Amino acid sequence: MDGNGRWAQGRGLARTEGHRIGEERLADVVRIADELGIGWFTAYGFSTENWTRPKLEVDFILSLHKNIFGRTDEMHRNNVRIRCTGRPVSGTSRLPRRILKEMDKAVARTRENTGLNFTLAFDYGSREELIHAARGAVAASRLSGSPISVEAIGDHLYVPEIPPVDLLVRTSGEHRLSNFLLWQTAGAPLYVTSTNWPDFDRHELDAALTWWRSTAGIRHVAV
Ligand code: IPE
Ligand code: MG
Repeated sequence: MDGNGRWAQGRGLARTEGHRIGEERLADVVRIADELGIGWFTAYGFSTENWTRPKLEVDFILSLHKNIFGRTDEMHRNNVRIRCTGRPVSGTSRLPRRILKEMDKAVARTRENTGLNFTLAFDYGSREELIHAARGAVAASRLSGSPISVEAIGDHLYVPEIPPVDLLVRTSGEHRLSNFLLWQTAGAPLYVTSTNWPDFDRHELDAALTWWRSTAGIRHVAV
C-alpha cells in the first residue's frame, strides 16, 4: 500500500493524513475482497525498513492499530479470519506490548472463522522471514535427518499457511517488491497502478482483477 505521503502532500495535507485515510481504504478493500469471495488478502502495513522514518510518522502509523483492530468486531461478524505476519511472530518485534496484545487478541478471536483470510504484515520484512524460516528448517532437518527443501523452508515461514500469491498489486506507480513476501510471490504477476493507495477503490481492484482474470482463478491478493 504505497503513496499515502504523496497523496497527502498533493493536497497540502500532512503525510499522517494520508496514512489515516489509507487505513480507511484498507478496511474498504478488505470488505470488497470479502464480497468478491477472494480467499486470501494480505496487506503490507508497516515494514522493517519503515522504522527509519521520522519518529512522529512512525508513532502515527503505529497508532493506527487502534483503527485496524477496532474493526475486529465487523470482520468477525463477516467470518473474516485475521492473521498478522512479521517480526511479532518470531518474538523479535520492537512494537509496543499493547499493539502486540491487540494483534494477538484479533488473531485469537477470529481463529475459527472460515471466510476471507486477511493477513496484515506489520513490522514485516521478507529477508528476516527467510532467515527465520532457514533457522527453523535447519533445526527440523537436524532432528529428522531430512534435507532442507523448498517444502521445509515453506513450513517455517512466519505464517506457513499463507498460499502462493496469485496477484501482487503495487500502487503509486512503484515497481519495487520492497522486501514483501519474496518467497510467496516467486511466481506472482505484478500489477502496477499509478493510483496512490488512499485513492485505491473498488474500481481499482476490479481493474487489477480484470487484468489478471484472463489467466486463472484468484485465491490470494497482496497489496
Ligand atoms: C505507504 O505510503 C504507507 C507506509 C509505508 C506505511 P508512503 O508513506 O510510503 O507514501 P509515499 O511513498 O511517501 O507517497
Ligand atoms: Mg512509499
